[in-house]
Amino acid sequence: MSLKSIQKEREYTKFVVDERLCYYEPSKNKTEKTFVEELSSSLNQKQKSIHPKFFYDKSGSELFEKICKLPEYYLTRTEISILRKLDDKLSAYMDEEFRLVELGSGSSYKTRILISIFEKLQKRIEYFPIDISKILKESTTTLLDDYENLHMTGIIDNYESGLEFVKNYDDKKNLIVFLGSSFGNFDYEPGLRFLHKINSSMKDGDLFLIGLDLVKDTNILEQAYNDSQNITAQFNLNVLSRINSELDSDFNVDKFAHYATFNDSKNRIEIYIRSLENQIVNITKAGIMLEMKKGELIHTENSYKYTIPKIEEMFSNTGFRINELWFDDKQYFCLALLSKNG
Ligand code: AVJ
Repeated sequence: MSLKSIQKEREYTKFVVDERLCYYEPSKNKTEKTFVEELSSSLNQKQKSIHPKFFYDKSGSELFEKICKLPEYYLTRTEISILRKLDDKLSAYMDEEFRLVELGSGSSYKTRILISIFEKLQKRIEYFPIDISKILKESTTTLLDDYENLHMTGIIDNYESGLEFVKNYDDKKNLIVFLGSSFGNFDYEPGLRFLHKINSSMKDGDLFLIGLDLVKDTNILEQAYNDSQNITAQFNLNVLSRINSELDSDFNVDKFAHYATFNDSKNRIEIYIRSLENQIVNITKAGIMLEMKKGELIHTENSYKYTIPKIEEMFSNTGFRINELWFDDKQYFCLALLSKNG
C-alpha cells in the first residue's frame, strides 16, 4: 500500500492512503500487556485460562468465519436476518449527519447491510472501523470499490481509546455498532464497566446498536458450540497451535480436547480445553513449564446469553435509554438501539 501523506495529530499519527481511505494509529506505544505476559499469569492460576482474544490469529480468524456459516451456529445468520429487516426502522433515528462507527471491523457482510441503510440517507457515507489490527486488509479495499460514496477512516486502537478519539474528532453524530454478541465475552462487572465507558464516550445525539445472544433451550445453545463438523473444536484448539508457533512451545494438540457446556446458573456457554492425559508442556519463550493433569481444564471463553430483563437492567444501570429492542421471530437474538440518557 502506498501512502499519500503522514501527519501527526494529537497522540495519533494519520496515514492518508487516498481521498477515501485514511487511518489513525497511536503514536506512542501503548503499554498493553504482551501475549507472553498475559499467558504467564493466566496459566499460572489455579483455574488455568487463555483469553479468547488470542483465538484470532490468521487461522483462528478463518475458522471463526467458518463457524459463522455452520448450521448449528445460529447467531450470525439470525443477527443478519434482523439487520436485513431494519431499514426504515433504523433510519427513522438517523439523518444526514450520522457516520457509522464499528467496534471490530468484523465481517464486512453486516457492515454492508448498514452501509446500504446509510446510502438511502446520504450522498457521502463515512465509516470509522475501530480495531486493534487488520482494518486495512482485503475487505477494506473491496468495500471502497463497491461503494463509490464511501469514505473510510480506520482507527487502529482498542475500543475504549478509539471511541474517545472519535468523540473528540468532530461534532458529527455517530452510530456506534458492536455486533455479533462479541459483548458476550465480558463477565458481568467488566461488561458494565465497558458499557459505561461507551456511554461516556458518546455525545448526546449519538446512537449505539449492540447485538446480544439470548438465553434459549440448552441443546440449541450447546450445539452451537459443539458442531457436528468439529470446526468449533478446531477453533478452540488452534490457540494451542498458535502458542506453539509464536512462543515456541510443544503442545501436542492430539492430547487435548474441546469442551463446551452451558452453565445455566450463570447464563453462559463456557469453553475449555481438556488435557487427555497427565503431561508437561514447555512454553519456551514464556519460560513456562506447564503441568496438566489428565482431565484438567484450561478455560478459554465465556459466551454470555441474555434475558430481556437482564438487558434492560444492564443498560439502565450504565446510563442508556433503550430506544428499540429488535428480535428475530424465534427470539434467538436481539439488537438493541440505545441513546445516552439525559
Ligand atoms: C465472537 C464471542 C461472539 O461467543 O459465540 C464462537 C465466539 N466461540 N464459537 C461466541 C465463538 C466459539 C463468539 N463471539
